[in-house]
Amino acid sequence: MMDLQGRDFLKLLDFTTEEITYLVDLAADLKARKKKGIPVDRLKGRNIALIFEKTSTRTRCSFEVAAYDLGMGVTYLDPSSSQIGKKESIADTARVLAGMYDGIEYRGYGQDIVEELAEYSKVPVWNGLTNEFHPTQMLADLLTIKEKFGKVEGLKLTYMGDARYNMANSWMVTCAKMGMHFVACSNPKYFPDPALVEECQEIAKTTGATITLTSDVMEGTKDANIIYTDVWVSMGEPDEVWSERIADLSPYQVNKKAMDNAAEDCIFMHCLPAFHDLKTKIGEEISEKFGISEMEVTHEVFESEQSVVFEEAENRMHTIKVVMAATLGWEKL
Ligand code: CP
Ligand code: NVA
Repeated sequence: MMDLQGRDFLKLLDFTTEEITYLVDLAADLKARKKKGIPVDRLKGRNIALIFEKTSTRTRCSFEVAAYDLGMGVTYLDPSSSQIGKKESIADTARVLAGMYDGIEYRGYGQDIVEELAEYSKVPVWNGLTNEFHPTQMLADLLTIKEKFGKVEGLKLTYMGDARYNMANSWMVTCAKMGMHFVACSNPKYFPDPALVEECQEIAKTTGATITLTSDVMEGTKDANIIYTDVWVSMGEPDEVWSERIADLSPYQVNKKAMDNAAEDCIFMHCLPAFHDLKTKIGEEISEKFGISEMEVTHEVFESEQSVVFEEAENRMHTIKVVMAATLGWEKL
């Protein structure tokens, strides 16, 4: 057992390789218990608050279901129904909520906001996505990779697309911590922040990880075990950037050619939601405006045998359960 009681979960930079491994393995254990119908509701009587300043399907549902499975009550605060930031500061909100709840989830904009919330909250704060990081997604993805390959260390993960936002940042940190080989394969305009690259390179020296930035798709995808992508325009970014993003990132679409160039056992991953067909409002609008029917991933790859995106989505719930359980001291009960 590893004691994480009382800790915040804000970014994986704050956790050791051993702590991350422990959380992923405990998630596999709680997933197995759920499949067998074994209850884990040791946190009965506790309550959590979920603050969402951006929309969500997976993260919100995962926190809610996981909390119910652990026996906890949940309050959901949507982007429009609280005073946060408008009439009440983050510091005051943190102290109000910490007086009523045992844990607080925050999804929103700058990482500085969730860090401030945690500074002023006496109960654990969990990052449900910021512009800079999406750490709960990383645990779900590591669990999925471990289920597929039996390990994570030594694997090559190639991230294609917008590599300067929450998902690629999180992957660069995760690969550095876990001894994986990270490749950001994109237009150099979308390479990650050099300061974060340097920080990750320092960590990589201690774990055997490597960090590579390339704009060459064939070089970047060669022998990859995992090809990962995300939307080209993230939540909170203005609609005006679509045209530039499509022009800049189309060469970095995950398609059959990229997958065929990777290792034979390569899997395709995506945090979702994904634009791979015209069955969404935005997908339709983009198609009308720019004449494309697929964006960061082709429908063919998304629906292929190599795609593990729905297993990944399910694992969000099992891993978020562990983040709450571990930081609320579940194992000691
Ligand atoms: N992957 C993810 O965070 O999905 P949601 O935006 O639906 O929560
Ligand atoms: N980069 C995406 C991730 C969604 C899970 C966004 O921030 O919108």
